[in-house]
Amino acid sequence: MSLINEHDGPRTAIQIIGTAEFESWLNAQPAQSRAWIERQQFEAKSGQFAWLPDDQGAPDSLVVGWDGEEAFTALGSLPLQLPEGTYELAGTASDQQLLGWGLGAYQFDRFKTPERQPAQLLLPANVAAEEIANQVNAIRLARDLINLPADELNPSRLAEEAIQLADSFDADVAVTVGDDLLAAGFNTIHAVGRAADDAPRLIDIRWGNPEHPKVSLIGKGVCFDSGGLDIKPASGMRTMKKDMGGAANVLGLAQLIMASNLPVRLRVLVSAVENAISGNAYRPGDIIQTYKGISVEIDNTDAEGRLVMCDALALAAEEKPAVMLDYSTLTGSARSAVGAEIAAMFANDDELASGIAAGAEAVADPVWRLPLHGPYRYMLESKVADTVNSASLPYGGAITAALFLEKFVDDLPWVHFDIMAFNIRSRPGRPEGGEAMGVRAVYHYLKERFGG
Ligand code: BES
Ligand code: MN
Ligand code: ZN
Repeated sequence: MSLINEHDGPRTAIQIIGTAEFESWLNAQPAQSRAWIERQQFEAKSGQFAWLPDDQGAPDSLVVGWDGEEAFTALGSLPLQLPEGTYELAGTASDQQLLGWGLGAYQFDRFKTPERQPAQLLLPANVAAEEIANQVNAIRLARDLINLPADELNPSRLAEEAIQLADSFDADVAVTVGDDLLAAGFNTIHAVGRAADDAPRLIDIRWGNPEHPKVSLIGKGVCFDSGGLDIKPASGMRTMKKDMGGAANVLGLAQLIMASNLPVRLRVLVSAVENAISGNAYRPGDIIQTYKGISVEIDNTDAEGRLVMCDALALAAEEKPAVMLDYSTLTGSARSAVGAEIAAMFANDDELASGIAAGAEAVADPVWRLPLHGPYRYMLESKVADTVNSASLPYGGAITAALFLEKFVDDLPWVHFDIMAFNIRSRPGRPEGGEAMGVRAVYHYLKERFGG
């Protein structure tokens, strides 16, 4: 853990200096410190750090700049930039700044020994240490799951991870596997996953007091997306171990909700499958009867995410939760629309959408709402079934995917996140690789709305 609560040994003090206050701060420093600052060309830019000397002229403490904008930019790069060791704050830091340190210390070390350990920060006594630790641990879980390659994190392993999480919070968990999916009517989950060696499955976790408001989280758990018979080109397939990023996000969020003991009745549904190719793979032109009874003509086997999600959403809707939230790495189109660093958000409820947008703003976990534009439904019409799985035209692909999902949620308050689940570059607090997106935003919203 890079954020610690106790430490007996030596530590180096760090002080955050506001970029705007830099000049006046500098003028108040002794001459020797001013010389050190100038020699290091320190200007208190966000994340920029410099050493200050002690009375003997030896390096002693640190200053780091912050421009007052995004909280993570203050401390988020330090854990892997400062020399290994223990640091403590001189002066104050916000919870978000401290979280930036905790998240910036992440390294995926499962298959390669890291070159160094992250620097440790001794948390000040007056901060919400447990809350910060819960958030760090939740995001770490999501990142680890996304970063694990598909040969390790297959559907059964994803289910094991979910069971382990459920067990650690005394939650109930049920997993429906393989042909049992057909018996229960989850035909789309089965169709997408049946060609893989490791059987498809639906994971169902319940936690909390049944009297509390029901919150349902639904995650796309495509452990690898080859595209199916509509096979992806190599370039598109290369990153598809992350296609269970939605599942990783909901498991991370569930861990956070349970660790914080939020007064909600939580349900988590994850469709865990591999979209593989073999003789029994589902085909373009196949027509599948969904759990909800809507028939779907398969136009494209690479539009598998909405298929595994639609049965899970229909199941979630049956118990009429107060809010349903799904996370899916659903379309390349959402990435074209908002890029890799913003979660595209769709909602059928304006109050819910603006509440989450406010949460996103508060914790710098950006989301941007796109429209569930009804007139585009014509692109999902099928001549032989109730709907096709993928639109006939190459326009508004994230919207038509969301419109497909909307058919399964019965007008209940619902939010759909179409996410990247991966940082394509390192930023403070956000190392390159698997990433939770929209999780802290929703957690903030849920805490404001339901929190005790
Ligand atoms: N998992 C992909 C979407 C994806 C691609 C997410 C790249 C993030 C980055 C999804 O299953 C998919 O293949 N979608 C297709 C849908 C199309 C066939 C209608 C897409 O977006 O191209
Ligand atoms: Mn696909
Ligand atoms: Zn996919």
